Amino acid sequence: TPVSTSTVKRRLRDSANKKPYLRLANKKNRLRWAKEHRWNKVTVVLGAQWGDEGKGKVVDLLATESDLVCRCQGGNNAGHTVVVEGKEYDFHLLPSGIINPKSICNGVVIHLPGLFEEAENNEKKGLKGWEKRLIVSDRAHLVFDFHQVVDGIQETQRQATEGKIIGTTKKGIGPTYASKASRIGLRVCDLLGDFKEFSTKFKNLVKQYQSMYSSLTVDTESQLKKLKEYGERLRPMVRDGVYYMYEALHGPPKRILVEGANAALLDIDFGTYPFVTSSNCTVGGACTGLGIPPLNIGEVYGVSKAYTTRVGIGAFPTEQLNATGELLQTRGHEVGVTTGRKRRCGWLDLVILKYAHMINGFTAIALTKLDILDVLDEIKVGVAYKINGKRIPHFPANMELLHKVEVEYETFPGWKSDTSAARKWNNLPQKAQNYIRFVENHIGVPIKWVGVGKSRECMIQMF
Ligand SMILES: *[C@@H]1O[C@H](CO)[C@@H](O)[C@H](O)[C@H]1NC(C)=O
Ligand SMILES: *[C@@H]1O[C@H](CO)[C@@H](O)[C@H](O)[C@H]1NC(C)=O
Repeated sequence: TPVSTSTVKRRLRDSANKKPYLRLANKKNRLRWAKEHRWNKVTVVLGAQWGDEGKGKVVDLLATESDLVCRCQGGNNAGHTVVVEGKEYDFHLLPSGIINPKSICNGVVIHLPGLFEEAENNEKKGLKGWEKRLIVSDRAHLVFDFHQVVDGIQETQRQATEGKIIGTTKKGIGPTYASKASRIGLRVCDLLGDFKEFSTKFKNLVKQYQSMYSSLTVDTESQLKKLKEYGERLRPMVRDGVYYMYEALHGPPKRILVEGANAALLDIDFGTYPFVTSSNCTVGGACTGLGIPPLNIGEVYGVSKAYTTRVGIGAFPTEQLNATGELLQTRGHEVGVTTGRKRRCGWLDLVILKYAHMINGFTAIALTKLDILDVLDEIKVGVAYKINGKRIPHFPANMELLHKVEVEYETFPGWKSDTSAARKWNNLPQKAQNYIRFVENHIGVPIKWVGVGKSRECMIQMF
């Protein structure tokens, strides 16, 4: 029987001193409540180009003063190199903040053998006690070995049918997100639940994939055996991610950092589709991936190189297929951390940065690798795209169109001096300062850091 109006009224009266929603009807109480609920906010660091912007360096700077560092999307298809006290660490799935504070992975997809291998490699370089600092959400989806095999098969098929590949890292990230969207994926909570149940679901998943890819062979029993072992190793690190984040946001003041992987132009929705990754690399991904409200987003830092690079194929309007591009490639050591592939190089593209800013609402920007431009006589910056001689105000969604745009450049004289020893704004040559100020004004976002080298000390902080 439905509860009567009088019962509802009585219940509300009874709990009048405990239930905030009752008190909140009153304006004075509402203001007090808002004051009491000054929630912690997260700082988000995002790639503003096609990845490899040096997010790791910014994260590393901020991580030293953070209490919690979070990953919210992607998998071990990303790569950050972090240099601390002369030691070089490589991170793919682990939050690069794992060197210091606590770290949590939520919204990511996890390949367990890859996770442990990565941790062990970094252990050899001096990383200690990571198991106690890493927290993994039980809602995270699992990447299986066969997802990685399928990733390879799909690329081969694309090559055969369309004559082109996406250029994925073959880490199985795309197929895993596809399983997730098709609602057949398996999560950490499944692995750590009833293993018999998990085994059945795993076998069904394998069957589904085998019906799609006839060449796929999976040794189900040995896979399950390994997964069980990995699951037990992972168990102590697993928490309910939503509850964990809620507590972190509502407890005593905490500095929380969210480390974006991949980048704006690789975002599944806003990137240069289909040459993108399969997760959300823009600011919304921090909310959907971590399960936190938009109100808890604080600073949003966009990271961009002082030029542009891109791995794999797809349109790249400011690409320089000549000596300039080669110079940027060699001076910048532009080789992928995850894949070892050479990156394509070109001038800084402000159309892209403005577009990334429209989506993410950056509160500040980090401009990295300025020193790579040190030897150039002339430096160009793409400021607008033209189609048939006419400027367009937006970044085209259509790839054929993007291939056709003509870039309008602004040219700057090079500073022709070594900036790698600069530690303050005043140490930078006037011409370099002009370049930075132009970029800042054009995007309309303050530049907070300028990077002139690999290590922590090489990030010049402006404010
Ligand atoms: C990313 O966004 C899509 C919608 O575009 C959503 O279906 C998906 O769950 C999101 N993934 C994450 C990890 O936030
Ligand atoms: C370098 O190549 C790009 C196209 O890849 C071209 O637009 C540019 O003019 C070239 N620069 C020089 C100096 O040849």
